[in-house]
Amino acid sequence: MTAPIALPALLQDGRAGLRPWREGDVAAILAMSRDPDTIRFTNVPDPYDDDSVRIWLALQPARLRAGDGAAFAVVELPSEVALGAIGVRVLHGRGIAEIGYHMAPQGRGRGLATAALRLLSDWSFRTLPVARLQLTTHVDNPASQRVAEKAGYTREAVLRSWADQRGERVDLIMYSLLPGE
Ligand SMILES: CC(C)(COP(=O)(O)OP(=O)(O)OC[C@H]1O[C@@H](n2cnc3c(N)ncnc32)[C@H](O)[C@@H]1OP(=O)(O)O)[C@@H](O)C(=O)NCCC(=O)NCCS
Repeated sequence: MTAPIALPALLQDGRAGLRPWREGDVAAILAMSRDPDTIRFTNVPDPYDDDSVRIWLALQPARLRAGDGAAFAVVELPSEVALGAIGVRVLHGRGIAEIGYHMAPQGRGRGLATAALRLLSDWSFRTLPVARLQLTTHVDNPASQRVAEKAGYTREAVLRSWADQRGERVDLIMYSLLPGE
C-alpha cells in the first residue's frame, strides 16, 4: 500500500509558486493546453474541452490518495493566476518519479519553469518514496532541455523511438536528478 500524498497549500521560492489546482482554473488549463508547442511536446489531450478538464481536476484527489502523483499550477507571486502546469508521477515499486511541465506562452522566458522544476524536485525528494527523479524532452525542444539543465538535472542519453507522440515515434532525451544534487 503506497502512502497517500499530502498536497502543500503553496511551494514557493519568493518569486515562483506552486499551488494546487482549483475549479476556477478550467479556462486557464484549457488555454495553456491549446498552445501548439505544448501539444507538440507534451501529452496534453488533443482535442480538449472544458468537461474533460473538469474530469481531470476531479480525478486529482484519488491520485493523491493512491500515492500516484501530484499536479500543481505554476504562479508568479504574489499573483495566484495559473501561468503553467507541473506534475509528478510515481512509478510504483521502482523508487522513481517522473516530472512533466508546460507554461502558457505569456508565462515563458521569465525563469518560471526552471523555478517550478526546482521546487517540485525538492518537494518530491522530501515527500515521495523516490531515489531518482526523471524527465524526458523531445530532441527538438531546446527550451525544455535548458530548463532541465538549469534545474540541476543530468542529461543521460537519447532514447530512440521511445514514445508515440501524436501518432509519431519520437526520440526523447532522458534527464535525471538524484537526492542532494
Ligand atoms: C519548455 C518551457 C516549459 C520553458 O518554460 P519557461 O518558463 O520559458 O522556461 P525558463 O524561462 O525557466 O527557461 C527557458 C530557457 O530556455 C531557453 N530557451 C528558450 N527557447 C530556446 C530555444 N529555442 N533554444 C535554446 N534555448 C531556448 C531560454 O533562453 C531559457 O534559458 P536561459 O535562462 O539560459 O536564457 C516552455 O517553453 C513550454 O511550455 N514549452 C511547451 C511545452 C513543453 O515543451 N514542455 C516540456 C516538455 S518536456
